[in-house]
Amino acid sequence: MIFVTGGAGFIGANFVLDWLAENDESIVNIDKLTYAGNLESLSSLQGDNRHIFVQGDIGDASLISELLEKHQPRAVINFAAESHVDRSIHGPEAFIQTNVVGTFHLLEAIRAYWNKLDGNSKQNFRLLHVSTDEVYGSLAKDEPAFTETHQYEPNSPYSASKAASDHLVHSYHHTYGLPVLTTNCSNNYGPYHFPEKLIPLIIVNALAGKSLPVYGDGQQIRDWLYVKDHCSAIRRVLAAGTSGETYNVGGWNEKPNLEIVHTVCSLLDELRPRADKQGYAEPISFVTDRLGHDRRYAIDARKIERELDWKPVETFDTGIRKTVQWYLDNQDWVANVQSGAYRDWVEKNYQERS
Ligand code: NAD
Ligand code: DAU
Repeated sequence: MIFVTGGAGFIGANFVLDWLAENDESIVNIDKLTYAGNLESLSSLQGDNRHIFVQGDIGDASLISELLEKHQPRAVINFAAESHVDRSIHGPEAFIQTNVVGTFHLLEAIRAYWNKLDGNSKQNFRLLHVSTDEVYGSLAKDEPAFTETHQYEPNSPYSASKAASDHLVHSYHHTYGLPVLTTNCSNNYGPYHFPEKLIPLIIVNALAGKSLPVYGDGQQIRDWLYVKDHCSAIRRVLAAGTSGETYNVGGWNEKPNLEIVHTVCSLLDELRPRADKQGYAEPISFVTDRLGHDRRYAIDARKIERELDWKPVETFDTGIRKTVQWYLDNQDWVANVQSGAYRDWVEKNYQERS
């Protein structure tokens, strides 16, 4: 069996669902259930005894140790993190607690467990740490995409905390020999994406006839990957990656934010035309930029393609169409995550942007 942390979040939940759809190996899913954790995303697994959910914190080393001893997993995949850049600007502390201190405690628990393993179990054990392209900092328009050897230059409290966690993971490999794998992925999109992030926020705001907030000039570039392709990359790295190595994961889909917003609006125009015959793009509004906003990210995914024979299945056109359709088909999921706490966040983040 394997352990997944943060498996009730956006990428973690997609990973758990896809893993159990593809094979019978059980998962212990440890998630603190912060505002971003949502068991409704896993409701199709109710009654499936291959999925064992434990509400818990990766920073709780004694809980993690107890679970490791009890279940004896062959691998741990660490998705658990505070993940939203804007929230890290408003309140960095939770990012340091979970992404840095939490990862440290998780590493300590895993190191103690791994030290007691022997033979093949010890040799074959893996910790796969899921990280981000944001650790590499921001690129100018004509600079080459991030390779695995690109210098770390994180710019936000979020990316700095993820960079710290990557360094800790690397140090446990270098110093103690812990068998680790690290993936640094570009922006994901797809089902179960919490609507504080650009793509789901634009879909839910557009459907509600609300303003579509574009930070600054909307020409910041992100490199987009359909979440299920990220999940398949993680499965591939776990199966065939070399211990101690880092793999950059991306879809070769660099797009400016404004283009993303227009694409989503055009798809909504086609799939669910507005009753008043107006276009969904009509309420686009340019608002005050994110502090320290990184201009461009781009992933060079040639290493994982070459060494592990991984490639994404979706193009941006197919992935974004599936995503918009998923939100149209899952309005209950959307309504349920738009709780009081969600509304408080939206008010805090957007009220002060002129
Ligand atoms: P998310 O915010 O949707 O989910 C994070 C999950 O972790 C939630 O379920 C939350 O409850 C849980 N969690 C938070 N703190 C925890 C703690 N202390 N202990 C246990 N669980 C905790 O995030 P996501 O978008 O699914 O991202 C997952 C991982 O992938 C993160 O590490 C993130 O840095 C990384 N990543 C995300 C993207 C992206 O585009 N979303 C891209 C590259 C890498
Ligand atoms: O690059 C990988 C990263 O992608 C992950 O590590 C993060 O966890 C994930 O949240 C994401 O970070 P971004 O900051 O790129 O994602 P977000 O969806 O918040 O923003 C995407 C772009 O859209 C960014 O340039 C900011 C802009 N934006 C965002 C929001 C929420 C807007 O213009 N308006 C908005 O309302």
